[in-house]
Amino acid sequence: MMDKIETPDLSHLNSTDYENVYEPAEDSFLMLDALESEIPFIKSLKPTICLEIGSGSGIVLTGLAKCLGSCCAYFSIDINPHAAQVTRKTACKNSVCLEVVNCDLVGPLLPQIQNKVDMLVFNPPYVPTDENEIDPLSPIALSWAGGFRGRTVMDRLFPLIPQIMSPSGVFYLLIVKENDEEDILNVMKSFSWRGSVIIERKAGREFLKVLKFERVKV
Ligand SMILES: C[S@@+](CC[C@H](N)C(=O)[O-])C[C@H]1O[C@@H](n2cnc3c(N)ncnc32)[C@H](O)[C@@H]1O
Repeated sequence: MMDKIETPDLSHLNSTDYENVYEPAEDSFLMLDALESEIPFIKSLKPTICLEIGSGSGIVLTGLAKCLGSCCAYFSIDINPHAAQVTRKTACKNSVCLEVVNCDLVGPLLPQIQNKVDMLVFNPPYVPTDENEIDPLSPIALSWAGGFRGRTVMDRLFPLIPQIMSPSGVFYLLIVKENDEEDILNVMKSFSWRGSVIIERKAGREFLKVLKFERVKV
């Protein structure tokens, strides 16, 4: 199989879907490019469980699943019920099998996935906003409104990483400059995870980066 991630077919989605679900943009494509550059490494891990939190349209996990094939189980989570529904449709349209769950971060999956996730992908709501812009009643605001420093949602995930990831698990996180890369690296370091930038790109006013984290081996 080629080490290339093809952009999934999203022709089943229209502008009405994108009123409630994040439309793939530069950040989505940067994550796909980052993962594509990591395919040889990801294959070497022989993953059995891949998880994407915040799947939106499903573009990222579907692309990854098409590339890696049925060697592992794919779980997709989104807090937005419309996104969960759309992710299911995207998987179906592209003939891949994803387990789609509508919940907040790992939610009720925690006992099931504890120490088992070999690969985790998160393109979070990263835009710095007022906390009150994180409106649970506005599905589309949930896709971008990141609260203080754009960190509110991702900061809730970081302490869960050591619990959910397998011993050789790898975590890919998309951030922007305002999220404070150095501080994120330090937070993860406090959990004995080391990170580095694997790809970065300026897109309009946003300076996007994908960080790769692995457990510090003792
Ligand atoms: C920037 S969008 C990324 C969507 C897609 N992965 C992509 O790259 O195009 C962020 C996604 O995270 C979801 N999300 C926000 N907060 C979440 C939470 N607490 N738990 C799970 N998903 C969340 C949003 O609904 C949205 O679909």
